[in-house]
Amino acid sequence: MEKELATRPYRPPRLRGRLEGYFQKTVIVLGLSIILAALVTRALNDSEAGILSHPPRHASATISRCHSITAKVSPPQDFHKRSHSDRFVHGTKPVLVKRATIWTGGKNGTEVYRGDILLDKGLIKSVGRLHHGVLAAYGSDLVVVDAKNAWVTPGIVDIHSHLGDAPSPALDGAEDDNSSKGTVQPWLRSLDGLNTHDDSYQLSIAGGVTTSLILPGSANAIGGQAFVIKLRSTEERTPTSMLLEPPYNIDTSFPDPSLPPRWRHMKHACGENPSSQYKDTRMDTNWAFREAYKKAFDIKQKQDNYCSLALAGKWKGLGDFPEDLQWEALVDVVRGRVKVNAHCYEAVDLDALVRLSNEFKFPIAAFHHASEAYLVPDLLKKAYVTDSRHLLYEAQQAYYYGFPPNLAIASVTSTAAEVMGMGHHLVIWDSHPLALGATPSQVFIDGIPQLESPHVAQKPQNYNDLPKVPNFDKEAVEAVKYEGLPPLAPKKATGDVVVFTNVRSVYKRTADAVKLLFASETELGVAVAQNGSLVCSGVHVDCLTALDGAADATFVDLEGGSIAPGLVSFGSPLGLNHIQAEDSTNDGDVFDPLVKGVPKILGGDTAIVRAVDGLLFGSRDAYLAYRVGVTSGITAPTHGNFYSGLGTSFSLGAAHKLEAGAVIQDITAVHVSVRHFSKPSVSTQIAALRRLLLGPHKGATGHYFKKVVEGEIPLVVEAHSADIIATLIILKKEIELETRINLKLTITGASEAHILAKELAESGVGVILNPSRPFPYVWEDRRILPGPPLSKDSAIVKLVDRGVTVGIGCEEIWSARNLPFDVAWAAIEAGGRISMKDALAIGSVNVQKLLGVEVSEEDADLVATRGGELLDVHSKVVGVLSPRRRSVEIL
Ligand SMILES: *[C@@H]1O[C@H](CO)[C@@H](O)[C@H](O)[C@H]1NC(C)=O
Ligand SMILES: *[C@@H]1O[C@H](CO)[C@@H](O)[C@H](O)[C@H]1NC(C)=O
Ligand SMILES: *[C@@H]1O[C@H](CO)[C@@H](O)[C@H](O)[C@H]1NC(C)=O
Repeated sequence: MEKELATRPYRPPRLRGRLEGYFQKTVIVLGLSIILAALVTRALNDSEAGILSHPPRHASATISRCHSITAKVSPPQDFHKRSHSDRFVHGTKPVLVKRATIWTGGKNGTEVYRGDILLDKGLIKSVGRLHHGVLAAYGSDLVVVDAKNAWVTPGIVDIHSHLGDAPSPALDGAEDDNSSKGTVQPWLRSLDGLNTHDDSYQLSIAGGVTTSLILPGSANAIGGQAFVIKLRSTEERTPTSMLLEPPYNIDTSFPDPSLPPRWRHMKHACGENPSSQYKDTRMDTNWAFREAYKKAFDIKQKQDNYCSLALAGKWKGLGDFPEDLQWEALVDVVRGRVKVNAHCYEAVDLDALVRLSNEFKFPIAAFHHASEAYLVPDLLKKAYVTDSRHLLYEAQQAYYYGFPPNLAIASVTSTAAEVMGMGHHLVIWDSHPLALGATPSQVFIDGIPQLESPHVAQKPQNYNDLPKVPNFDKEAVEAVKYEGLPPLAPKKATGDVVVFTNVRSVYKRTADAVKLLFASETELGVAVAQNGSLVCSGVHVDCLTALDGAADATFVDLEGGSIAPGLVSFGSPLGLNHIQAEDSTNDGDVFDPLVKGVPKILGGDTAIVRAVDGLLFGSRDAYLAYRVGVTSGITAPTHGNFYSGLGTSFSLGAAHKLEAGAVIQDITAVHVSVRHFSKPSVSTQIAALRRLLLGPHKGATGHYFKKVVEGEIPLVVEAHSADIIATLIILKKEIELETRINLKLTITGASEAHILAKELAESGVGVILNPSRPFPYVWEDRRILPGPPLSKDSAIVKLVDRGVTVGIGCEEIWSARNLPFDVAWAAIEAGGRISMKDALAIGSVNVQKLLGVEVSEEDADLVATRGGELLDVHSKVVGVLSPRRRSVEIL
């Protein structure tokens, strides 16, 4: 039936059938047949033409409807002449941002002006040197902000956000982004679940994000309609009042046809995401897409046929305008009036979606997560953590790995705005936007300043310049050559001796700190390694003995670079996982005796598992981290609840466990988590811990907990809430009172630890902050200290200031490779209160010390960087000196 409509000229079906039947029965009546035939033919012709003497009452409404369904999306005719934004808030004062370095996004992202910006009535009125008369007219109303040559860019636009729909902190029952009602649901709207009380609005604004496209989740192939919001809070406090240029369909099924339509947005997802929720295969998902699109395509076709008759005045038997409230949004997709945002990773998925768009002739606005940028394969993937505050960080990393700077800024501002069909909002930055740690000193949304009394960290003058970055051309060529999987295993230098030349500085770790061995601004030095050990560093004359007989040494020019301790990863299952989402590539979870009895074959509830037994070497994430200077990892057995087991420390550069130096220390500490799992209760977990510590010490578990109470190995507890951390401090005292021995306790996660900085310092408890830049993921994380511009201190600074030993962690196996940036960020954000040496310690020796790894000064890995120090963005790691592996690896 629908097919017929699509391929044949339209005839009202009921009338046609009846007349045809009538013909067959009347042909025998020959006498009447001629007259009748003439009459019938006329009637048939008239009815085929469908002309009625009087058009129906709804004719004019229907005609304008018919015009509107084919109207193209465009701004209203007077858009560029408008005097104020429709989001303008009365009473907002005009603002002059003067002496700004303005990146406009124009000229392919290369246009930069020095001048002033005038904001009025929610619009950017002018940019450049403004005429005195223009300003004088504003009189005393004008608020003047002196940018003092700081960089100003359009606000950051997050085109992939679940803010408000997947709220922060996450609460059971408040997660409104995934529907479980079906694979295909174009009729759902993310707007309906938008929570206006989310903690992340303010945090995102503090990162310069002004506008977000709120997408439904990716558990559905077609998850529903997405909406663009501005993140500022509104007087109305409603989700609707946050919308930016919403489509007219949101509060009527029949928008005023005279208005040009506005862009609509829709979420699609392919591959693993929709598959995992519905146990669909890719074939199932793609059929669901095709079936849905066929439906929408047919409705569109019916509407077009209907309208071509209506517009020709052929009303007879036309009936009602064909439509379907459930499918109207997808029909609009086929009409090219919806930006489709597809969440797809792999070539197979991208290809299927492109075929779909060809089959049903609709455009796709953006592929999210598409891992095509081989050099930074996880960059885009990362953009979907709900923490959009650090979206610019993604652009900074892309730039570091060779993405052109004009496009890097554009990718999170103007290009992104263009993808959504809109722009207009400003951020004043405390440094060049591509300098690591760039932080807004003010954010304007609709002309309204968003930061009440922003805290701005002191930064060196050169942070205002575009940072120099190393060259990754070779890696880019390799990535393409190997289809994104270039070989990563490090190669040993030939010969026992490696001489590093043109060395500007050498840092070395001691038992509990990092010290500067050598630094020179004038005469660059040398560093000599024998069998992986640094034997000498200094100016040339200092190392003559070591250089003696170095004729067949390997020489590496560091071009003013440096040697520093290798960083240490902790906090993710790196070393126990290859692909986090794929069980068959991972070590798996341990049994938890607090939840369920442990099999007897393991010794029952007194069993304790060693992470070292499950180590997996040679993962791409391990090698990628190694190649940026994260030379070792510490990991604990992966667990879902309270009980973990014995941690281990290992090399990220080794290919297998039997290689020299692959395992650094097989048993490092006892690990548990005390968190708000639904069960058992926090108090039950504490009770279990108390029992395990006080004894009786039975079996293998007893053996290691005895070592803990005797102060031999640390107890490492993952805890986030300040209340739990406080309880742990009390428990430590309780045990110590009994044993008179100092119990080594380390808290990891530690989102709220800053609240107890003084108490932690007093009781000698160290902290590994993970993530290093906190985010209120769940309730127990919610009292974070956000750092500049929202608070003067970051959590790290506050803890360090109080004398707490602090290390930082990596949340994901792939994020270990960002550790040098994260450590550098902590130092930059501290505005000079954390030295480079201390920052290096936070990323290396502190982590080892807090987690029970005992590495002597002589055995510690060192990393050689070219063109700068390990924590400078302009440096690149070129070698790893590993005394334990008795080698220098050249990367
Ligand atoms: C925009 O800039 C990029 C990177 O610098 C360059 O490759 C591209 O050709 C430029 N496009 C235009 C239209 O100039
Ligand atoms: C929605 O579903 C996707 C895909 O399964 C998942 O990654 C995401 O975490 C879900 N959102 C929430 C809030 O659970
Ligand atoms: C490196 O180690 C090998 C094997 O132990 C030894 O023979 C050699 O002398 C060492 N080389 C240097 C320069 O110390």
